[in-house]
Amino acid sequence: MDGLKFDFCNLMEPRVEGGVSAHRLGADLADRFRAAHASVEASRQAGSLGFLDLPYAAETVDRVVALADGFAQWFEDVVVLGIGGSGLGATALKEALLGPAWNAWSDERRDHFPRLHVVDNPDPHTFRALLDRLDPARTLFNVVSKSGATAETMAQYLVAREWVESAVDAHKARGHFLFTTDPSRGALRQIGEAEEIPMLPVPENVGGRFSVLSPVGLLPAAVCGIDPRELLAGAAAMDDRCRTDELTRNPAGIFATLLHQADTEQARPIHVMMPYADRLRPVALWFQQLWAESLGKAVTLEGESRLTGPTPVAALGATDQHSLLQLLMEGPQDKVVVFVRVDDVEAEVRIPERHPGIGALAYLGGHTLGHLLDVECFATAEALRRAGRPNATVTLARVGARELGELLMLLQLATVYAGALYGVDPLDQPGVELGKQLTYGLLGRDGAERPDMLEPDEAWIL
Ligand code: PA5
Repeated sequence: MDGLKFDFCNLMEPRVEGGVSAHRLGADLADRFRAAHASVEASRQAGSLGFLDLPYAAETVDRVVALADGFAQWFEDVVVLGIGGSGLGATALKEALLGPAWNAWSDERRDHFPRLHVVDNPDPHTFRALLDRLDPARTLFNVVSKSGATAETMAQYLVAREWVESAVDAHKARGHFLFTTDPSRGALRQIGEAEEIPMLPVPENVGGRFSVLSPVGLLPAAVCGIDPRELLAGAAAMDDRCRTDELTRNPAGIFATLLHQADTEQARPIHVMMPYADRLRPVALWFQQLWAESLGKAVTLEGESRLTGPTPVAALGATDQHSLLQLLMEGPQDKVVVFVRVDDVEAEVRIPERHPGIGALAYLGGHTLGHLLDVECFATAEALRRAGRPNATVTLARVGARELGELLMLLQLATVYAGALYGVDPLDQPGVELGKQLTYGLLGRDGAERPDMLEPDEAWIL
């Protein structure tokens, strides 16, 4: 199979009742997408969509690879400290391309590349348990924050810095840190410059959730031996496929247009991403953040209030067949499911032929676990279709760096197209500010007012 496939048959009429007619793909939906595509291309030309330049940033990649090679020789453990867009992309790459057991493998099996830990939540149990397992003399902390000020990440940095300095000479301690941050602003850059800590840039025009193909995702990948050039080649190939404004030839365009149509015309705002591969579950979580933070906006670009917008949900096949599927099949008709499946699962595990006389087991013998999972994906898609529930399937040839680059670029492009279709700014996140300001006030940050908090009402607390 050549390149990623997006199968949207089960979003179309008459396969799915109430689906989109073929006629509309060449008529009003094509026009709608052409306008969205033009707006995205204008933003690209204006330089505001920096993520579209990342696949071609050869100099940055050379620097990432050079730094990663050096770190890989020195350190046994690399800890990424970053949250939201600064952590989810690295986790998605790690799980997909290194697999779930990477950190448990021996040095030989890892080819002597370091273990990789991505820590987002400042939960003391998680952080303490991690530090207790690491050797400070052989650990690198990659502190990732575009703003260089995010409370969770900065707090973890402070703890990590003290922890390293308690075990390593002060002048050597800074060699255990790498900052990935804004190229010119922020507290992290200020500290890095003052203390000559190595730094990698998150380009000014690349926001957190669009940064996976910048040093934010590339360094952690490269330090564990993943070739960032393959990731970027896949992303560039998808970008190339999506240069056309012809809806039926543009996979990200179809993805965005049909999900937007499902929300705005079929009252289906819940968009479930359900990979049938454990390794791809973090990609669904990464997409959940991308779709939610980019499209969940209270006002349009025209300044009008809006109460609509999609709600992404990350699921996992086949696990969620035993959890969410009943709801997807028979619950409210307000959802679209996007499956992600893999053609070549690579690690085959054959199911032995035993208990030939017991029908409930006998049919499984001779198949493989990968085939079972894949058949379940097809069966679930067909069951949903028969129940009149629209769904689509992304197929990757395999879970490799190139294929992942294609997938991540598909979803990022779909997100900015969807932003244009909904008429919202997909690049900002004004809704997260108030909570941050209240946190700063409660913790006594300089310049932040202590907020008046409502006292709890005992009558309403059981
Ligand atoms: O996508 C986003 O912009 C956010 O999720 C940020 O990545 C997140 O808030 C972390 O921000 P920063 O990278 O500035 O620490």
